[in-house]
Amino acid sequence: MNPAKPTLLQLLALPIVPNAQERLEQHFNVIRLWEHEDPNIAMEEHVQSITVLVTSALTAARTQLIQQLPNLRAICSVGVGYDNIDVALAHERGIQVSNTPDVLNDCVADLTWGLIISTLRETGRAERHVRNNQWGLTVGSLPLGRRVSGKRLGIVGLGRVGLAVAQRSAGFAMDVRYHNRKPRNDVPWLYESSLAELAEWADILVVATVGGADTRHLINQEILDALGPEGFLINVARGSVVDEKALVKALQNGAIAGAGLDVFEAEPSVPDALKTLDNVVLLPHIASATLETRQAMVNLMLDNVEAFATTGKVLTPVTA
Ligand code: 8YV
Repeated sequence: MNPAKPTLLQLLALPIVPNAQERLEQHFNVIRLWEHEDPNIAMEEHVQSITVLVTSALTAARTQLIQQLPNLRAICSVGVGYDNIDVALAHERGIQVSNTPDVLNDCVADLTWGLIISTLRETGRAERHVRNNQWGLTVGSLPLGRRVSGKRLGIVGLGRVGLAVAQRSAGFAMDVRYHNRKPRNDVPWLYESSLAELAEWADILVVATVGGADTRHLINQEILDALGPEGFLINVARGSVVDEKALVKALQNGAIAGAGLDVFEAEPSVPDALKTLDNVVLLPHIASATLETRQAMVNLMLDNVEAFATTGKVLTPVTA
């Protein structure tokens, strides 16, 4: 440890950016917490000198950790979502929080369309059919999918990701409407102030809103019933936005036609009931998981750390 440098607590390895450690170590003594058997012992003698925390949308920065670090000044996260960071406590203590907006919009929107297509066209089931050597064995054993083009697309949360999803609909001849806290005046799509009415109108309802207490179980039984037996739900936001128990019931009893899910309420745990259903596509939270985008996310986090070290201000602060 160099006594002239402040300390940075790093919660995750960053192997996809080869010079990431070097960039962190240029300004800080770095504690690589995941390498230690007992994280508390590893942190113990440094709690006073830790000024920066590097985390991610998956590794979190919960209340207890922030409380343990009396001189923390910045939390720099890899990921756009910050529902697992206690931002209110951080701001109360004057700790800056940064996330990585925008750089993942395209990949998350691409994957959303991948989920729409795989859910309606049942490509997962078709692929399992080939792998299980069932092709040609039984005539007509694979059910027909549903057409994607020309459907009505409802978007819950027309933020950066929702916008990128909507823009991609042009190639699918879709009518698009959206529900937000407020209507936007910079988009051509119709605003629905009632989420239930949007669900009733839509063939496909894409959830792209932020997570956290304000949106918890926004998609509940009422909304699923409104979406109806011909409707499909796609969730690329946070598992917490959907009442998973109500969703399982709706998929089991045909209250909705199907679902494509990249996120779950208690990740990485996925309810067994979902795994047994054929009308749902399950992905392990991979919407941003391309080499290019994950590198861009890590680099933006590093830019934030460097900006904080050299100017005292992060570049992309969370303002909520
Ligand atoms: C990743 C995400 O899972 O950015 C987010 O909020 O949920 C995803 O992109 C995460 O950032 C990985 O660190």
